[in-house]
This record gives sequence, C-alpha cells and structure tokens, in this order.
Amino acid sequence: MTVTEQTAAAPAPPSSIAMVRTLGGIAMLSGFLVVLVYQLTLPAILENQRRAIERAVFLVVPGAVSRVDFQLAADGLNRVTEDTEDSPDAIAVYAGFDADGALKGVALEAAAPGYQDVIKLLYGYDPACECITGIYVLKMTETPGLGDKIATDQTFLANFKALDARLSAAGDSLQNAIVTVKNGTKKAPWQIDAISGATVSCKAVGRALNESAHRILPRLQPAVNQLKVEE
Ligand SMILES: Cc1cc2nc3c(=O)[nH]c(=O)nc-3n(C[C@H](O)[C@H](O)[C@H](O)COP(=O)(O)O)c2cc1C
Repeated sequence: MTVTEQTAAAPAPPSSIAMVRTLGGIAMLSGFLVVLVYQLTLPAILENQRRAIERAVFLVVPGAVSRVDFQLAADGLNRVTEDTEDSPDAIAVYAGFDADGALKGVALEAAAPGYQDVIKLLYGYDPACECITGIYVLKMTETPGLGDKIATDQTFLANFKALDARLSAAGDSLQNAIVTVKNGTKKAPWQIDAISGATVSCKAVGRALNESAHRILPRLQPAVNQLKVEE
C-alpha cells in the first residue's frame, strides 16, 4: 500500500463543533436525569426522615408515650396542624407527654460538621431540669469504628442523661456553653466527655448541641406552658 492510498482511507476527524454539541447534549441529559431522580425520590426520603424522627422522639425524651408537634416561628410557639405551612425559618419542637398528659420534655434538632460530613442529631430537653436528656444520631457519615461510635458508645451516651443546659439569669443565653472535653477530663455538668480516638466527632456533637440550645432554648423556655396535649 502506498502512502497516497493510506491517506485516502483514513476517516476525516470529527469537527470540534460536533464534539462540543454531543458532549453538551450528554451533560444536559445527565443533569436532567439527576434532577428527575431527586424529584422522584424526595417524597420517600422526607417520609423516611419523618418516621426516623417519630421513633427517636421517644428515645430522647424518657417517659414520653405520646407526641405533639409544635413550631417555633416569628409569631411564637404554634401547634402543627394539617393546615400548617412549611416554613424554612420555623423550628420544629416535638413535645413528649406521659400517659397522664404531663410534659416530659421536647425533642429538638441539631447539626454540625463532623470528621467527614454534617452530623444531624435529635436531642431531648427537659424544661423542668433545664437539661438535655438524650441524643439520637439521625444522619452521619463518620468513620466506622471511630467517629460512628457517637451513636452507640454507652459511656459517651451517658453524657446526655442530664447534661446541664440552664439559661442565664437574663434568660437570653445558656449559663454555660455546652462543650466537649478530651476523654477523662470532664469536670462540669455541661461538659461532654469525648470518646478516646474520636474526639473530632464528639466535639461536633458538642458544637451541634451548644449551637441549637443557644439558639432555641431562650425562645422556648418562656413558652413552655403552651406545650399541652390538648389545645
Ligand atoms: C482514616 C481516619 C479516619 C478517622 N475518622 C475519624 C472520625 O470519624 N471521627 C473522629 O473523631 N476521628 C477520626 N479520626 C481520628 C482523628 O483524626 C483524630 O486523631 C481523633 O479524633 C483525635 O482523638 P483523640 O484526641 O481522642 O486521640 C480518623 C483518623 C483517620 C486516620
């Protein structure tokens, strides 16, 4: 075969415009599919989150056998009904009651960046003792065997049996910031004793609780007598 014959047989290279058009089309189609899958799965994801919270409320509010949902919004504390509109600024307050209808506590949400990604928690707060009564990890991607112990380590979870979350005399902030300390160095009832080797994740739990309690409790505590089973 001569050089002239070889050149004649080679196909013409695709034009750059055609390549850009094809790649652009594929990118648009991929984007469309991602959005479509997200939209289709969103109701199921939200329903699963709702069920997870429903179960967790009874774990973090000891003695509660029933639950009523409230919202803390700009106009105060309101009971959630079928007519309640979703508001991104409203704070969810899940109130737990005993069999006699007495308030046992509320469950509140908290979140902070952990070692890998955001850790989302539900925690119980008892207005009577002004203390945190339990935590439940709703979402995390901490390292298995290290950071994920925040959900299962019983010694760590014992920190939250009566963690001090008292308000200051003025009622506008926590009396003492909730803070995680290195394993074995807890000295005060508002401190969280970290898990050895997983201090980063434990500190994230402390930051999440401190931020949430500091933001919500000064607004919630004065409205606690509105938390009732019946309207
Ligand atoms: C691959 C890898 C994954 C880690 N994952 C976590 C984690 O999920 N949570 C965490 O607190 N520490 C994690 N650590 C350890 C932290 O880097 C850090 O050493 C530890 O939190 C400090 O705890 P200590 O002060 O009690 O030793 C990881 C370390 C490595 C090398």
